[in-house]
Amino acid sequence: MSEHSPIAVIDFGSQYSQLIVRRVRELGCFAKLYGPDELHLTGAPAAVILSGGPRSVSEPNAPDIDLDYLRSLGVPVLGVCYGMQLLNTKHGGDVKPSDRREYGPATLIPAGSDCPLFAGISKESQIWMSHSDTVGELPDSVTIIARNQHNTPVALQFADDWFGIQFHPEVTHSHEGTQVLRNFIALAKDAPKFEIASFKDHLIQEIKDQVNGREVVCGVSGGVDSTVLAVLLNEAEIPMRAIFVDHGLLRKNEAAEVVAQFKELGVPIELVDASERFLSALEGQSDPEEKRKIIGGLFIDVFFEAAANIELLAQGTLYPDVIESASSGSAASKIKTHHNRVDRILDLQKQGRVLEPLAELFKDEVRQLGTTLGIPRPILYRHPFPGPGLAVRCPGAITPDRLEIIREGDAIFMRQLKESGWYDKVWQAYCALIPVRTVGVKGDERSYEFAVSLRAVISEDAMTAHWAHLPYELLGSVSNEILNSVPGVNRVLYDISTKPPASIEWE
Ligand code: XMP
Repeated sequence: MSEHSPIAVIDFGSQYSQLIVRRVRELGCFAKLYGPDELHLTGAPAAVILSGGPRSVSEPNAPDIDLDYLRSLGVPVLGVCYGMQLLNTKHGGDVKPSDRREYGPATLIPAGSDCPLFAGISKESQIWMSHSDTVGELPDSVTIIARNQHNTPVALQFADDWFGIQFHPEVTHSHEGTQVLRNFIALAKDAPKFEIASFKDHLIQEIKDQVNGREVVCGVSGGVDSTVLAVLLNEAEIPMRAIFVDHGLLRKNEAAEVVAQFKELGVPIELVDASERFLSALEGQSDPEEKRKIIGGLFIDVFFEAAANIELLAQGTLYPDVIESASSGSAASKIKTHHNRVDRILDLQKQGRVLEPLAELFKDEVRQLGTTLGIPRPILYRHPFPGPGLAVRCPGAITPDRLEIIREGDAIFMRQLKESGWYDKVWQAYCALIPVRTVGVKGDERSYEFAVSLRAVISEDAMTAHWAHLPYELLGSVSNEILNSVPGVNRVLYDISTKPPASIEWE
C-alpha cells in the first residue's frame, strides 16, 4: 500500500474541477477534490493539481494557496489555468488581461522535446483554452515550456516537478490532454492506485469497521445507487434491513419488479406499500412545490416508521452530492442541499449513525463497482427516476386515473425504446400527462380526452439537456400504440424543449 494520500485536486471553482479528478482516476490513480483552504487536510498527497477558476488572480480577495505549505509537501504540482497564474504570481511573476479572450481551440507547441510533462506529445496538437488572463512578467526562475500559435506562453516550469499549463488537459477537446496528465502523474511517487476491484475490497473492510456489529437499515428504490449499496452491504455480510417504500407514484409493475430484482440479487427487501397514504395526502393538491413537500415529508415519516429503530442508516450518497457546486469554490467537507440531508438524517449523522460507503465515487464508478458485484447491466444502466416519482410528470391534481394513463403510456414508450435500441442512447425518457382535454374522433364518436407528452433527452449530468432526435417512425409507432391502447388519451405530443429553459421533468 502507498504511504501517500490520494492526489489532491484543489478546486478554485472551475466547471472542470470534478473532471480532473475523474481523469486522474481513469488513469488508475486515486484523486480527491479539496477547497483552496483545505490544503492542510490533504494529508500527504502524492501530487497536487491546482484547478482553473472563474476569478482573476489580480482581483482583490482572489482564492489563494499557502505556497510554503505546498512546498513542504515535496511533491509534484501542476497548476491548470488559474492554478498556473497563481503559481506564477507566487513565484514573483504577474498576470495581465489577455489581448484576446482565449476560449476554445488553440495549438500547443512544446518548446523542446525534453520536458517530462510533454513526453510523447506531438510537435503541434489541439488544446482547449478558457481564460482571459495571460502571464505577464516572468520571474527568472521560471521557464517557458510551451507556447500557442500566437507565440503566447501556455506552459511554464517552476521547478523540476512543478508545472503550470494555460489550457484544460481534462477536456476531450485537448486532444493529447490525457497524455499530459499521464506524464504528470508519472512524476508522483507511490500514488495510491484506483482500481475498482481492489477499491471494492477496501470499501467492504471500511464498512465492516464502521458497522462494528450494529444493524444497518438501508432505503432502496431499485435505482442504481441504492441497489449497488444494498448488494455491497450484503457482500460485506452486514446484518441489514433493506426497506423499499412504494409511494404509489411508481411506474407500471415497478414495485413487483424491484422486489423480484432484489430476490435475484440475493438481497432480502421489505416492501412497504404506503400508496394509499400518499395518494390521500396528495388529494386536491396541484401546486408543484406543495406536492413535492408532501411527498418528501411523508416519505421520511413512512421510512422511519417502518425502520422503527435505526442503529445505523446506510445511504447511497455519491461524490458529486458531497462536493459543493464547483462554481462557489468547493469545499469537500460541505454538503449541498440534498434530499439525503433532511433534519432527521442530519441528527443521525451528528450521532455518527449514517453510513455512506459510495460517497467517494462518481456515478460511472458506482456502475463499475456494480459490475464487479455481479449486478446485471440493465439495472446498472437504468434511466434515473426522480424521488417524487410520477408526481413530477403529472401536472395538476394527482388521481389514480391520471397515474394509470402515465403508467400505460410510459410502459409502451419504454418497451419501444428498448426494442429499437434507443433506450441506452438517451439519458432519460418518459411519458407525462398534460392535464388538458382536447377534442378528437375515436371510431365514429367524438372524444374529449387528455393529451400525453413524450420526452426523451440527451444529457451528461442532467444540468443541461437536449431533446433526443428520435426517428419519426419510432415516435409514430409509440403514438399509434398509445392512442390505440391507452384509454383516456386522444393526443400524443413530443417535447422538443432544451434544458434550459425547460427542465427535464414537468414539475
Ligand atoms: P430537472 O427536472 O430538474 O431534473 O431538469 C434533473 C434530473 O433530476 C431528476 N429529478 C429528481 N431526482 N428527486 C430526485 O431524486 C427529485 O426530487 C428530482 N427532481 C428531478 C430528474 O429526473 C432529472 O434526471
